[in-house]
Amino acid sequence: MCAGFRDVVRVNNFTLIVREPETPEEHRELMEVERLIWSPDYREVFPYHITIPLLDIGGVVLGVYDADSGKPVGVIVMMPGFKGGKPFLYSHMFGLVKEYRGRGVGSKLKEIQRKIALMKGYDLVEWTYDPLLSVNAWFNFVKSGVIARKYKPNYYGFVDFEYNRRIESDRLLAEWYLKSRRVEERMAGRGRHEPIEYFLSRGAEIALTAEPINNGFRAPREPRLWLNEELIVIEVPKNFVDMQVRRHSLAREWRLKAREALIHYLSRGYVVFEFTRSERERNRFYYVLWKVDPARILRGDYP
Ligand SMILES: CC(C)(COP(=O)(O)OP(=O)(O)OC[C@H]1O[C@@H](n2cnc3c(N)ncnc32)[C@H](O)[C@@H]1OP(=O)(O)O)[C@@H](O)C(=O)NCCC(=O)NCCS
Repeated sequence: MCAGFRDVVRVNNFTLIVREPETPEEHRELMEVERLIWSPDYREVFPYHITIPLLDIGGVVLGVYDADSGKPVGVIVMMPGFKGGKPFLYSHMFGLVKEYRGRGVGSKLKEIQRKIALMKGYDLVEWTYDPLLSVNAWFNFVKSGVIARKYKPNYYGFVDFEYNRRIESDRLLAEWYLKSRRVEERMAGRGRHEPIEYFLSRGAEIALTAEPINNGFRAPREPRLWLNEELIVIEVPKNFVDMQVRRHSLAREWRLKAREALIHYLSRGYVVFEFTRSERERNRFYYVLWKVDPARILRGDYP
């Protein structure tokens, strides 16, 4: 099995050791790292008295340690689950402290996450994330190759931490089919990925779009819920975290309208399969939904 799993990430100027915590103190230390990642006022970290037994029951607990300082700077925690009698992993924590983000470390960690899940015999990993966070959406769809079919409105109730300030905690369920061609290609950086203009030229219809207002924000229009095209486009804001602090009512408007559009089309058999941006306006981001058998997406088909 994978007891004592250890791997090394070398990217840019960083060397990071990815390994299981070895003592109860190291398990406790990871709780602090989670706080640093999800905001200093984040209290609901994964308790050390759960991560310790998690390693014994088929779960995954990995600390990411800076090789120079020996300090933990990231964490991965996954719980074993069952779906239709089949085991899968539920990834509950995956993150890096701010100073290590945006330089390709997360993508390397994703490779390691896939590797350890496969080593332990799993071929599906799932997690939820806030669909209005464009960084996470890019990371999940473009870099990792997930698909999504389920929307969970206000999954954790009203929450208040850096990424969700006094707002409904809606989540999209990411499904990561580790052995699919789609995931292999996207992880290798050679999967096909097109800008929004491509999909519009293929007949995609826009279910949710936005217009500029002041301070660089955009306001969502009314969702269009009567479309039947094979491809549907849903815009999301670029700066949802900032918006929740500076224009809270606008953030709630985005929350409710994106929710309405996503639930409507997901309940009609569409699959969220792509996250992309505009070639002309680089700061505009969109989900693309495709009404198709998900098996086609997983084998790498593209509309
Ligand atoms: C999500 C996370 C792990 C990514 O790690 P990372 O090291 O920053 O990731 P990488 O540098 O490998 O890749 C980030 C990608 O997002 C893109 N990105 C950055 N800012 C973006 C934005 N505002 N909108 C869309 N995409 C963005 C980057 O361009 C890069 O993609 P590219 O290589 O195609 O250009 C990290 O941001 C993090 O720890 N976040 C907080 C915890 C969290 O949200 N975890 C849940 C993950 S679902």
